[in-house]
Amino acid sequence: MSKDMATTTTFNSLTSIFFLTLIIIIIKGSCDCSLNNINIGTSRSGREIGGQPEWNVSVINNCSCQQSEIKLSCKGFQSSESIDPSILSMEGDSCLLISGNPMKGFDTVNFSYAWDPPFLMFPSSSVIGPCT
Ligand SMILES: *[C@@H]1O[C@H](CO)[C@@H](O)[C@H](O)[C@H]1NC(C)=O
Ligand SMILES: *[C@@H]1O[C@H](CO)[C@@H](O)[C@H](O)[C@H]1NC(C)=O
Ligand SMILES: *[C@@H]1O[C@H](CO)[C@@H](O)[C@H](O)[C@H]1NC(C)=O
Repeated sequence: MSKDMATTTTFNSLTSIFFLTLIIIIIKGSCDCSLNNINIGTSRSGREIGGQPEWNVSVINNCSCQQSEIKLSCKGFQSSESIDPSILSMEGDSCLLISGNPMKGFDTVNFSYAWDPPFLMFPSSSVIGPCT
């Protein structure tokens, strides 16, 4: 083996160790929470608003990490009951929750709307972290 090859080999193993360490740090530092931990429950409130049944929606960040910029898929969403835009605001086919502000771990956000039939809402994107 030439001196040059030996140097290259040492360099390569040092580089591998460096990247392995980096990957471990990244995995350990990130959280086990995902968009799937944003759970949405919808139930009939029993009231009618503008002739439409009212639905109570409860969004829970069912994990320990904070999530912000939470967007729900809400294509075609309509409501005969007005919704506070600081809680839910429509932007095209998605709805921004609490103006993109963070939901801490296990926080809930509730809102009500009225329409028939109810809409199937599901989380479409968010920014996860920081974690506690
Ligand atoms: C929260 O997550 C736990 C464990 O994954 C699950 O059993 C529970 O039903 C979830 N709660 C809600 C409100 O979705
Ligand atoms: C629905 O939400 C309204 C307004 O927050 C509340 O007064 C009512 O108790 C809720 N109904 C149910 C069945 O959760
Ligand atoms: C949201 O609604 C749920 C279910 O009705 C209730 O348990 C929770 O306390 C409410 N959260 C807030 C922040 O009002």
